[in-house]
Amino acid sequence: MKIILTTDLHEGFDNKTNRINSKFITKMSEEIKKDADIKVMVVTGDLASHKQRQLPRVLKMLRTKINIPILVVRGNHDLWDTQKGDFGQKGQWLNKPKPSIKSIYKQHEQWFHDNDIRHLESGNFEINDIVFIGWDGWYHSLNPPTNDEFRMTPYTEGIRTTEWLTYRAEREFNRVIFDQTDAKIRIAVTHHSPLPSEWQYKDHAANPKFLQQITCRFNYFLIGHTHQETDMIIDDCRIINAGSDYNAPKYKIFEV
Ligand SMILES: [Fe+2]
Ligand SMILES: [Fe+2]
Repeated sequence: MKIILTTDLHEGFDNKTNRINSKFITKMSEEIKKDADIKVMVVTGDLASHKQRQLPRVLKMLRTKINIPILVVRGNHDLWDTQKGDFGQKGQWLNKPKPSIKSIYKQHEQWFHDNDIRHLESGNFEINDIVFIGWDGWYHSLNPPTNDEFRMTPYTEGIRTTEWLTYRAEREFNRVIFDQTDAKIRIAVTHHSPLPSEWQYKDHAANPKFLQQITCRFNYFLIGHTHQETDMIIDDCRIINAGSDYNAPKYKIFEV
């Protein structure tokens, strides 16, 4: 069986992105039509760029053109909702309330459901003795600081949203590594990669010290976020990032 993997489509990045994504998704659909062995599509997060309304737009494009199961995890950009003037302006969020993370999650559930797209945090996906187990992941870097904090609601359940997302990612990471499914081939899917190039994300699941937890339990590990094409093997686990960049989406087809 083959899998088609893509990532970081960043729908809405600028006024060219929609046309580029539409052409790109059509190209993937042609690949799928050509090869009946391609049974599943996986999208490893950052489907949207900086506004919530961009997410349903790209989900609909995918569903309209792709006729096989589509599995996704969310990236950091999929939680953003910026308004004019938000970009790079530290502290501006104080005057501009953003939707709560929980209301965003609820809305996403509806959008995933409406477009028949499987968000892997809502359950594993199994086909032909192959299981896909996924979590959105999160990273919280203070050194250097990321700009995520200013593009989301600042607090969730009384703590900083970045911290809340880190705890949540830890919980989901534990669910993934202790999953007992005994399918023959196990595929882990997330957005933030715990690779050495991201060493600065301390003490959470995107840190390389957690990488072995995945590589010793999974046959494949599909990732996104870095916009770097990756295809390497560590401890018999193949780690793949399709490597899309802004307005330069990429896909990879691989056989399992
Ligand atoms: Fe990205
Ligand atoms: Fe990202």
